[in-house]
Amino acid sequence: MPQPEGANAKREEMGSKDTPFEVSLRPTLFDDFVGQPRVKERLLILVEAARQRGEPLQHLLLSGPPGLGKTTLAHILAKAMNANLKCTSGPVIEKAGDLAGLLTSMEKGDVLFIDEIHRLQKTIEEYLYPAMEDFKLDVMIDSGPNARSVRLNLPPFTLLGATTRSGLISSPLLSRFGVPYRLDYYTAEDLQKVIVRSAHILNVETDAEGAFEIARRSRGTPRVANNLLRIVREYAQVRAGNRITRDVSHAALTMWGIDEDGLDEMDKRLLEALIYKFDGGPVGIHSLAVAVGEESDTIEEVYEPFLIQEGYLRRSPQGRIVTERACRKLGATPKKKQAELFDY
Ligand SMILES: Nc1ncnc2c1ncn2[C@@H]1O[C@H](COP(=O)(O)OP(=O)(O)O)[C@@H](O)[C@H]1O
Ligand SMILES: [Mg+2]
Repeated sequence: MPQPEGANAKREEMGSKDTPFEVSLRPTLFDDFVGQPRVKERLLILVEAARQRGEPLQHLLLSGPPGLGKTTLAHILAKAMNANLKCTSGPVIEKAGDLAGLLTSMEKGDVLFIDEIHRLQKTIEEYLYPAMEDFKLDVMIDSGPNARSVRLNLPPFTLLGATTRSGLISSPLLSRFGVPYRLDYYTAEDLQKVIVRSAHILNVETDAEGAFEIARRSRGTPRVANNLLRIVREYAQVRAGNRITRDVSHAALTMWGIDEDGLDEMDKRLLEALIYKFDGGPVGIHSLAVAVGEESDTIEEVYEPFLIQEGYLRRSPQGRIVTERACRKLGATPKKKQAELFDY
């Protein structure tokens, strides 16, 4: 519920894994949130409409690969509504009682942010349906023969869900959110703006080309852009008089194994494993994960979406397949079997 301006909105965290570095660079206002014009414009309309009616914001689902700004938007939305924000995440809510505790401590208009909502247990998810639809919560009291269900009224609140895997969200939950808001990879120009802003906060001098060189190699992801900026800043401080230029960015990123296209060592290991150990694929995600010594979830959520988007990797019902582009990049000659997969 909109409160008088200046009210001290509370921020509570439970199970948040954001680092202090990230928090320090996180924009808190829509004006500082770079890019994503379509999502931003729609969200601004929802906020404005809810404020005009004096109602809480509707429930929303934010989806997209890690590091694109879902948590940032949750904070911005709560602030724009002048609402308290409670943060938690799907795997942290172990029992229905955890969820009940969160929901019953909400005040009118508060925002509950559930990160990684696709990892919420199904039994717990079912408690959310009446809470979202009618602001009611059915809690079980006692167990055995005395067990009975009591229905509690909740104050009108907003549920913000975030997910890296919208495909894993059950359709009953999805339908209660309405249209999902999908964040896309950022352009290099947008990431350049993110970097210039962050460099300013970090107090390091950066020219436009130096920022662009980092942006270009940031896999379309603000979190990566900020992390690369951090590396370049350290390098600039020790070797380049605390000034980031294109040459400084290039030297630092090359030293840290980030190549011209933003691929890092794990990306290359993945592609090399596909080419040399699995004859280009198709290979299942679990075998690939074992070959490179990384969790298959991390590969699916962090590495693969970018490699697919950039055309280095393809998914097929039989498994992952390397593309011609990846072979060319790594200087490997496609085997006949692979060449057949490339649909020349
Ligand atoms: N649109 C944006 N403009 C500026 N910085 C951003 C933007 N989106 C994300 N960031 C930065 O990237 C970092 C990661 O964003 P976050 O919201 O935590 O991503 P997600 O929750 O989607 O994994 C944040 O610390 C923030 O500084
Ligand atoms: Mg997040």
